[in-house]
Amino acid sequence: MLTTPADRSVPGDADVLDLADVQGLVVRGYTMPHARHLLVRVDSVPAARALLGSLVDGTPGRPQVTTATPWEVRPDSCLNVAVTAEGLEVLGASLSGFPAEFTQGAVARAGVVGDVGPCDPAHWRPVFTGPGLHLLLSLSAVSPEARERATDALLAGTAPGLTELDRLDGDLLPNRTDHFGYVDGISQPTVAPAPPPGPPDRLPVQPTGAFLLGHPSQFTGHSYPVPDPPALGRNGSFAAFRVMAQDVDAFCALLAEQSRRTGMSPELVAAKLCGRWRSGTPLVLSPDADSHLPPEALNDFDYAGDERGERCPIGAHVRRMHPRDSRVAGNGGAKHRIVRRGLTYGPPHDPARPRDGQERGVVGLFIGASLRDQFEFLMAEWAHDGLFAPGLGRTQDPFLGTGAGQGAGGTFRFRAAGRRAELTDLPRLVTTRGCAYVFLPSLTGIRHLAGR
Ligand code: HEM
Repeated sequence: MLTTPADRSVPGDADVLDLADVQGLVVRGYTMPHARHLLVRVDSVPAARALLGSLVDGTPGRPQVTTATPWEVRPDSCLNVAVTAEGLEVLGASLSGFPAEFTQGAVARAGVVGDVGPCDPAHWRPVFTGPGLHLLLSLSAVSPEARERATDALLAGTAPGLTELDRLDGDLLPNRTDHFGYVDGISQPTVAPAPPPGPPDRLPVQPTGAFLLGHPSQFTGHSYPVPDPPALGRNGSFAAFRVMAQDVDAFCALLAEQSRRTGMSPELVAAKLCGRWRSGTPLVLSPDADSHLPPEALNDFDYAGDERGERCPIGAHVRRMHPRDSRVAGNGGAKHRIVRRGLTYGPPHDPARPRDGQERGVVGLFIGASLRDQFEFLMAEWAHDGLFAPGLGRTQDPFLGTGAGQGAGGTFRFRAAGRRAELTDLPRLVTTRGCAYVFLPSLTGIRHLAGR
């Protein structure tokens, strides 16, 4: 059982955040529809230092790391930089002050987060399991052309001694949906002092230290420790960079089969599984039919008055991943929030051409000040077990669970018309294709790694 950090020390610094020192990806959404992640090996340390330095020193013509400073003019593209534990070591940093889960890495932690069976690292893209993944250079762009220009500009001035091991693109699908057809990217934490990143909500603003090291965190009297030296650690964040394949044929078959078994419409089955209608309308606000709420109303809700999950199932994906004010073990419904920066990859699914052999899914970063209390907690405690909330038993998240035939997964419990109901034999819908734990240093941290 992962625990909440009640007993960790507080460094006692004033909570002042310099937005120009923070990578923009952490505290604000760029809402750009295209991304490219370059996964890079460092063969020459001087070349890596020169690259990192040139991305933060204003070198004319070089893309610069995008900070959290508000824009006067929105750029065509943004750049962010992350480093793996192996990358930090190669660059000469000491790992001694970094948390164990980060230094162990995603392969070693796979069992903790449910990356087992078909999700086991043995089946991941080779870049995630072999040695040599040191840097993650993530571009966001307003168009495919802007993404190409940004890639060219980034690679043009890069000295020999760095090897691109893999390249992963993400693109927004029409209507901002994921491959299962749900509008995604609605609910994101507001991180003080950055402005709200999405539609208005009634949720507590998250303290800076829930997402950036060196500031008071979401737990009273606690800040996450800053790895030494502070120039490297302070204002940094951690992320799980993740590639997850979606089985859309299995999802369509699931909706049809469960609709046949229960008499619910396929759309209602889809809404129960997610906690939102595919349009994004929250089930708790619109439980019987999709009222197609306007965008500004899509995140303004909590679960007060729906303690038993009559409107939104307690086990639905969004309610598991963020129970808001629901009753959960440890009272931590709003203490494990995570910033999601993902886009879909692969071609849209065409129902007229099922089983087309194309891989499709989501690629992106799940960001927080603590992998253990945010990404790993969500996966281990809330996605892959149900003991945290009443009535779930040992069921799993309908999207992220391991599916039928794998332990207790594959059952989805909910309430309908005042009675308990179950969907059974749920298939595995999402399969991990890779994961890397990375550190997103501050601008000062990047300069430190560059030796400047
Ligand atoms: C392919 C895999 C996944 C799919 C298809 C998926 C789908 C969705 C959808 C459709 C939403 C609703 C849109 C929104 O509220 O913004 C959502 C919300 C969310 N998901 Fe996922 N998700 C996936 C993986 C994950 C993972 C791995 C995590 C956590 C580690 C996660 C955490 C969340 C959270 C925190 C929310 C927002 C809940 C809220 O604040 O109400 N999701 N997801």
